[in-house]
Amino acid sequence: PPADPCCFVVFGASGDLTHRLLVPALYNLAAAGHLPDAFSIVGVARAEMTTAAFCEGLRKALDRFATRPVDPAVVDRLLSCVSYVSGGPEEPGSFDRLRDRLEVIEAQRGTRGNRLYYLATPPTAFVPIARALGAAGMAREEKGAWRRLIVEKPFGTDLASAQALNRALLDMFEEHQIFRIDHYLGKETVQNILVLRFANGLFEPIWNRDHIDHVQITVAETLAVGRRGKFYDATGALRDMVPNHLFQLLALTAMEPPSRFDATAVRRAKAAVLDEIQVESTTEALRRSVRGQYAAGRVGDTEVPAYRATADVAPDSTTETYVALGLEIDNWRWAGVPFFLRTGKALGRRVSEVAIKFKQAPFAMFRHMPIEHLAENFLTVRIAPEEGISLQFNAKVPGPSIAIDGVNMTFQYRDYFDAAPSTGYETLIYDCMIGDAILFQRADGVEAGWRAVQPFLDAWREVGADGLCVYDAGSEGPQEAHDLVGNHGRRWRPIR
Ligand code: BG6
Repeated sequence: PPADPCCFVVFGASGDLTHRLLVPALYNLAAAGHLPDAFSIVGVARAEMTTAAFCEGLRKALDRFATRPVDPAVVDRLLSCVSYVSGGPEEPGSFDRLRDRLEVIEAQRGTRGNRLYYLATPPTAFVPIARALGAAGMAREEKGAWRRLIVEKPFGTDLASAQALNRALLDMFEEHQIFRIDHYLGKETVQNILVLRFANGLFEPIWNRDHIDHVQITVAETLAVGRRGKFYDATGALRDMVPNHLFQLLALTAMEPPSRFDATAVRRAKAAVLDEIQVESTTEALRRSVRGQYAAGRVGDTEVPAYRATADVAPDSTTETYVALGLEIDNWRWAGVPFFLRTGKALGRRVSEVAIKFKQAPFAMFRHMPIEHLAENFLTVRIAPEEGISLQFNAKVPGPSIAIDGVNMTFQYRDYFDAAPSTGYETLIYDCMIGDAILFQRADGVEAGWRAVQPFLDAWREVGADGLCVYDAGSEGPQEAHDLVGNHGRRWRPIR
């Protein structure tokens, strides 16, 4: 069904996110009939621009970034809802002007005062915009109209800054109005972890330390840092990927079953399991982590210069472009089960997956096949490149003798479902419009993620360049990451 009548107000309207992802996502929602009839899009940015010029830019963006061939009638209908307002929070009176314009647009369009404010700006603008919205009386929900705020990543750069950002937003908005985005939660396969675990009776009874040996979470990227040097050098792989994306995967995999599929119960369970990751000291943080930085190499057919030779990266930078962690979750379900996480840039293959390794058969009945020669029982949820789930197990090789080999039982999305390609933002935008916050982060979840990575940030700051490993672009990452897992008697699945 179409969402509530509303006005989609996007700050940072002239930016990359708006053009590359938001407008294509709005187009897909419009094409699928999910946008309400009473709808408007208001772009806000500093530059002076006419609505016509802004629309022209959006039209070009759709030509370039639409995920499917566009229907010109739908594009025209979508663009007929668009207005542009120039202004910024630092400009006195500009949000009062914005409010007055919105009220006129709302009256014309019949959007009933419901507003979705989307902060598609650099993070330094989040708080100034939220404050300016508050000061102009635009944050309050009144007369049955809702006001919701979508906040993009990065949500803070450590625990203290995330807490400060939460406090500042909560000065102006209430928690139920704040929708913190993690685009991993917009991915079908990520949401499917919940369905796999809790809509089937089969897995949950064995989803614990009695049957699971360890878990591997991998987000390996072939992309190098490229033109994002300025952002990335101040950020690094840990901050960029772990407290958000990798921890979403970990939380969905490891959380206790929520009693209801609603935002309160699901988010409580996710925050609780992140709180159970405890790293007590610098020594422990160093023992549980490996960080690496790529040297020059070749990814596929492309020569990749060393990270330190990237534009806007310090020539002696110690920022990590790869991180591997060996974590434990201190609760009854997971005691003694290592969770290995790794993510990096400029690796040989693109692979995102959660792989659950079950314990081996307790003894080798097939005497001539030592247990270590049997295939490992991995249940793998693949997020990229191809989306699906597979289970690796042992099978008898046909023939007179008992020979055994590892095989895979594989489900691929594309074999069953016919989903049109999307940006991943459609569900998130739609859910915000209908007020469903399950796929968004609550304040406690974000803070629990930062609390769990803070010991690593502190430990690395303390030791500086010591312990920063080097790996070749196009490889599987630093050798030391293999040792991290090897020391626990396990090995990484190959990145392939
Ligand atoms: C972003 C990070 O949040 O996620 C990027 O800032 C990263 O560095 C990207 O490349 C990965 O997302 P995806 O959907 O391509 O796995």
